[in-house]
Amino acid sequence: MPDTGGAIRKWRICGGAELPDGGLGKRFKAEWHGVPAAGFVVRWGGRVHGYLNQCAHIPIELDFNEGDFFDLSRSYLICATHGAYYRPDTGLCLGGPCKGARLTKLAVVEEDGEVFFLPDAPVR
Ligand code: FES
Repeated sequence: MPDTGGAIRKWRICGGAELPDGGLGKRFKAEWHGVPAAGFVVRWGGRVHGYLNQCAHIPIELDFNEGDFFDLSRSYLICATHGAYYRPDTGLCLGGPCKGARLTKLAVVEEDGEVFFLPDAPVR
């Protein structure tokens, strides 16, 4: 549920403990330039990273099994459809049909053990 109080709009995605490092991620309803969109968060290298749930090759969701964004090595995010794999921290595609392209980063933050989406933050 959106929290519109205070100077920064943000809404809770999940508890931080629900995101094991290199483990299952969480899908959430995001907003992209004011339009509802599917997003996801994962933890990697101790930090939480958020992206649009959309492959850079063809705009379909990455996870065939919900929340299963990592490859078997737990080192890369992988598209279940055609196997593009991405750096978890930058979203850069390192191999596959869209090598060199990037996932769309979403602004997320972890505060007091909770993970939030910041829809009004600049999206890079
Ligand atoms: S749709 Fe993701 S690699 Fe082609």
